[in-house]
Amino acid sequence: MQKDFLWGGAVAAHQFEGGWNEDGKGPSVIDVLTAGANGVPRRLTDKIEPNEFYPNHEAIDFYHHYKEDIALFAQMGLKCFRTSIAWTRIYPKGIEEEPNEAGLKFYDDMFDELLKYGIEPVITLSHFEMPLYLAKEYGGFRNKKVIEYFVKFAETVFKRYKGKVKYWMTFNEINNQMDTNNPLFLWTNSGVTLAPDESAREVLFQTAHNELVASAKAVIVGKQIDPEFKIGCMVSHVPIYPYSCDPMDMQVAQEAMHERYFFPDVQVRGHYPNYAKKEWERQGYNLDITPEELALLKQGTVDYIGFSYYMSTTVKAGAKNDNLETTTNGGMENAVENPYIKSSDWGWAIDPVGLRYTLNNLYERYQKPLFIVENGFGAVDQLEADGTIHDQARIDYLTAHIKEMQKAVDYDGVELMGYTPWGIIDLVSFTTGEMKKRYGMIYVDRDNEGKGTMKRYKKDSFAWYQQVIKDNGIKP
Ligand code: BG6
Repeated sequence: MQKDFLWGGAVAAHQFEGGWNEDGKGPSVIDVLTAGANGVPRRLTDKIEPNEFYPNHEAIDFYHHYKEDIALFAQMGLKCFRTSIAWTRIYPKGIEEEPNEAGLKFYDDMFDELLKYGIEPVITLSHFEMPLYLAKEYGGFRNKKVIEYFVKFAETVFKRYKGKVKYWMTFNEINNQMDTNNPLFLWTNSGVTLAPDESAREVLFQTAHNELVASAKAVIVGKQIDPEFKIGCMVSHVPIYPYSCDPMDMQVAQEAMHERYFFPDVQVRGHYPNYAKKEWERQGYNLDITPEELALLKQGTVDYIGFSYYMSTTVKAGAKNDNLETTTNGGMENAVENPYIKSSDWGWAIDPVGLRYTLNNLYERYQKPLFIVENGFGAVDQLEADGTIHDQARIDYLTAHIKEMQKAVDYDGVELMGYTPWGIIDLVSFTTGEMKKRYGMIYVDRDNEGKGTMKRYKKDSFAWYQQVIKDNGIKP
């Protein structure tokens, strides 16, 4: 890989920080999600209920362990560290005139600690977090006022951390909400819930538009504050394969890919794609989109495409999938199992070649630098009596993916900025709220019920990744 390749690790504030109500932090949309399990959806409570267990409230308590954890990241040799800023630490309700100084200071300290070891912060502005207040009182990103609150938050942190943070992304996996069958996604992306009589698609596109304008405005403001900033989008990229070479399978797969491309098409190219405009026309959607906003979308395009890659999906014309709420089929009713691919215990298809395919697809479509900001293997790990954890399956998964990534760069010529495997330290799972679905190279002693010492242990993958970084890749 190139000399300045950003080998790193990724996490998100709400999944690892804990300290959910400390030093002035307000509740966010994630703080009202209970724990689920594999196949059991997380529940959204109306407010914080005293008798419910909310796994993100304490998470792995990075808030009080950050020095120890960053020292471990440094030992691993990370060149960069991707995390997010909890909007509610800075603006607890989202509407305050002045930011919360204690929240700002926490991130100052964290960035200083990273920079002390030469670790470059890579920061997502909103990783499934907005103040609960904005979701409840304003309807989240349905409401255009929330655009201004988001931009104010972005401006505050851009100004404060200029000189410390260079790499930014606006919204994490902004395209998850294309799947309106699973209420988790509209809620965590945008603070939106649907009423039974509403057209989910129409609400989605209005919300999406408002959020795309917020993203574009943040890019514009960020570039004014520091033209050296690199500001990207962040999408979940699950490539969709046709089940066969039947032209009808090819066609449904191509059409389904529009669900993946809708957001980056706008964030990278600066305008709405025709397939979306045709859908709006066909369905008679009444969207509030002004010419001024369209001009902002054109101006506020991103510098790079950050994306997560975990798995692929397969579709078949005419197939009927009744289980639309699962997270693995992307809410697609014609999704079928791919007979060539095995899955993790959580049903996520393990497909390393799909990563090379994705890198090529995205690069050919957009010709912008790419950044793999999430990839990883969620699995149960066994802490042995001697404090070791033998996570060979994770090492195998990551090795296979890194090899495919290297082919995309060395053989295909894709421009790639870096690679930050997900959950470099164990954290709370987003879709299930479990602790036992672990991704880390550092084990954290905490279980699904929130019990454990919070002690950190190195897994076998720790030394393995340390070597990969030292060697700047894996030999073919
Ligand atoms: C991505 C998210 O969807 O995948 C992360 O950006 C999430 O927040 C990760 O944790 C893995 O998903 P899960 O459900 O296994 O935690």
